[in-house]
Amino acid sequence: QHITLKQVFQDDFLVGTALSLGQINETDAPTDSLIKRQFNAITAENIMKAEIVHPEWDRFDFEAADKFVAYGRKNNMHIVGHTLIWHSQLPPFVSRISSADSLRQFMQHHIGTVAGRYADEVDGWDVVNEALNEDGSLRQSIFYNLLGEQYLVDAFKLAEEAAPSAELYYNDYNNEQPAKREGCIALIKKLQEAGARIDGVGIQGHWHAGRVPFDEIEKSIEAYAALGLKVMITELDLEVLPRDFQGADVNQRMAAGDRSLNPYADGLPDSVGHQLAADYENLFKLFLKHKDKISRVTFWGVNDGQSWLNYWPIAGRTNYPLLFDRNNQPKEAFRRVVAIK
Ligand code: XIL
Repeated sequence: QHITLKQVFQDDFLVGTALSLGQINETDAPTDSLIKRQFNAITAENIMKAEIVHPEWDRFDFEAADKFVAYGRKNNMHIVGHTLIWHSQLPPFVSRISSADSLRQFMQHHIGTVAGRYADEVDGWDVVNEALNEDGSLRQSIFYNLLGEQYLVDAFKLAEEAAPSAELYYNDYNNEQPAKREGCIALIKKLQEAGARIDGVGIQGHWHAGRVPFDEIEKSIEAYAALGLKVMITELDLEVLPRDFQGADVNQRMAAGDRSLNPYADGLPDSVGHQLAADYENLFKLFLKHKDKISRVTFWGVNDGQSWLNYWPIAGRTNYPLLFDRNNQPKEAFRRVVAIK
């Protein structure tokens, strides 16, 4: 493929991918060269999460994170740290914290050490991830429960102190939907009024092929940009498998070979591939229309084979959410995206 994503959109926005350890070790040559040709931004898929970098109260482990950052530097990529404060993938010692003082201490120690270590190298941080409920209220996470909404302001101020030249982002999923968008706007305004710096907002973009909420996405891009923020699509993939599970335990049904949970194990029907391609084309047309507001579009993975959607929310499925197939070949969706300009 002669045309590449980063070339096509070079005057518009960065085009990124999430990376995991195997890809950074460069052991898989075809994937490695695809990454370097197609993308100019990278996000740590897992290796900067607290459970990995901060396994115990007084112990950090930066082996993988250092490799990730070195990879980005070497290849001249925009480097995104993901994520400093999130209720999920926390080390066990954090989940056991029961006093506000100890949790505040953890936040200082964690943000100061992690963001501080890469202050000159990580270009932007997802400072807080997924703090909102679907109705726009604040999620009852350990952070909210012990510290109240002040934890949001504290997190951004600590990040700014530790990494003054990094951009600071709030990131969430479904925050293009009306109620959650309103909550997200309120959260951002709260930060701004408290004098905390926030530079951008991430709309994760885990959507479903055939059900992409284009109108709400456009309204959200406009609403967030109106707050003076850069807008980013941070974890883009388009699910093609069923998500509305009912009844018995799905993992048991998977193990028992229930094909309705994994309908495309032997290949994606053309009709679904066309739908996926049309959705991607229309999404990138929308992003181009708002290129003055959008700074980056990042895919949550490189190719269909290693996408998290093969093992979440049910392990062992065969999913097709990205622009490159299991052999790193460009799909119809890729061809339509690079052809829009
Ligand atoms: C996912 C990773 O892709 C998986 O490998 C991991 O098992 C779970 O987390 N929202 C986020 C990301 O902000 O950190 C999540 O990443 C996907 C949903």
